[in-house]
Amino acid sequence: MRVVSVVGARPQFVKLAPVAAALTAAGHDHTVVHTGQHYDPRLSDVFFTELGIPAPAVSLGIGSGTHGRQTAAMLAALEDVLVAEAPDWVLLYGDTNSTLAGALAAVKRHLPLAHLEAGLRSRNRRMPEEHNRVLTDHAADLLLAPTALAVANLAREGLADRTRLVGDVMADVLLRVRDEVAREPVALPAGVPEPGAYLVATLHRAENTDDPVRLRAVADALAGLASPVLLLVHPRLAARAAEAGIDLARGAVRALPPQPYRATVQLLAGARGLVTDSGGLQKEAFLLHVPCTTLRSETEWPETLAGGWNVLADPPGLAGAVTRPPPAPTPAAPYGDGRAAEAVVAALAAGQTESRATASSPTSTNRV
Ligand code: UD1
Repeated sequence: MRVVSVVGARPQFVKLAPVAAALTAAGHDHTVVHTGQHYDPRLSDVFFTELGIPAPAVSLGIGSGTHGRQTAAMLAALEDVLVAEAPDWVLLYGDTNSTLAGALAAVKRHLPLAHLEAGLRSRNRRMPEEHNRVLTDHAADLLLAPTALAVANLAREGLADRTRLVGDVMADVLLRVRDEVAREPVALPAGVPEPGAYLVATLHRAENTDDPVRLRAVADALAGLASPVLLLVHPRLAARAAEAGIDLARGAVRALPPQPYRATVQLLAGARGLVTDSGGLQKEAFLLHVPCTTLRSETEWPETLAGGWNVLADPPGLAGAVTRPPPAPTPAAPYGDGRAAEAVVAALAAGQTESRATASSPTSTNRV
C-alpha cells in the first residue's frame, strides 16, 4: 500500500510520528509531503528530528498568508504532487489549513482520502479549525475517529458508513515520551521552578490573539496569577502582542520560546496546572493528570471536562479556575491505550481492499 501523508503545522508532526513508524513497521510505502505552513525550525524541524520522523520527500515551502491565500497556494502545489504520487491513500491529519488544502486537492482528483482525527467538533463556526475539520470530513472516503464521541458526531452528519474508531495517535506518542523523559530527563530552560511549583501556559488561537482587547485581558489575567507561569510563546502570539504593544513577560509570567516535544511533555508533567487554548495540550494534560484551564468558550475534547480535569474559563474567571480544588483521580481512558497508530494502518489496509472491491463493480463510487 502506498500512502502519502500531508502535514504542515506543529500538531500534525506529533500525530505523524507514530503513524509513520507503524506504516514502516508494516512494510508499507510512505511518503511525507510538508506544505511549509510552519517554517520556523522550532515549530517544525525539531519535531522531525526528536520524534524520528522521516524527512519530507517534498517540501512545498508555502509559509504564512491570509487563510484564502495560504490554502490556495497549498492546493495548487499539492495537486501536482498528489497526482504524480498516485497513492492508494492521501492521509490528512487534524484541522489546519494544510488539512483542508490536502482534502480539496485529493477529492478533486479522485484520489482516495483518509482523515485522521475525524469527527471532532467545537460547534464554533468562527474557528478556522472548525471549517477545516467539517469540510475535510465530508470530502473524505475514510474517517479515522479518535473517540466514541467523534464517532457519534460523524454519525449525526450521515457519515457513519465511512467511519472507523481507531483511538488517538497523540496518546501513542505522549505515553511513550512521558515514560522516556521520566527515565531520562531532557535539559529544560535555565531557572524552571521545581516540579509542582509552576503553571504552564500556551496561547495561539485567533480568538485569543487577534483582538487586542481580548489579548490584553488574557495577558493581564496571566500576569496576576499567584503561581509562576511559564508561557511558551507561539510565533503568532509574539507577533500579535508586539503589534498591539502588549508586554507578555510581566507579573507572574515568564516568557519562553516554543519548546521541543520532549521538553514540553516534561514541563507539563511537572506543572501544577496548565492554562491553554490548544486542543492537543488539553488532552495531553488530561493524560498526564495535570489540571487544565482552557481559555475558550468550548472544547472539541469534551472528555477532558469530566471530573473537572479541564474547565473552560474567560480572563476574569482565570484566577478562580486555576486555584480550584484538585480533581479526583479518574480511571477514564477515552483516548485509547497508546496503540492507535496500528489501528490506523489496519483501517487503511482494510479500506484499500474494500475500495478496490467497490471499484470493480459497475456502480463504483470509490467510497469505502
Ligand atoms: C496553526 C493551525 C492551528 C494549530 C496551530 C498549531 C490553521 C488555521 N491553524 O495555527 O489549528 O493549532 O497551527 O501551532 O491552520 N508563524 C511564524 N512561523 C511559523 C508559522 C507561523 O512566525 O513557522 C506566524 C506567522 O506570523 C503567521 C502566524 O504565525 O501569520 C499564524 O500561523 P498559521 O500557520 O496561519 O496558524 P497558527 O496560528 O500557527
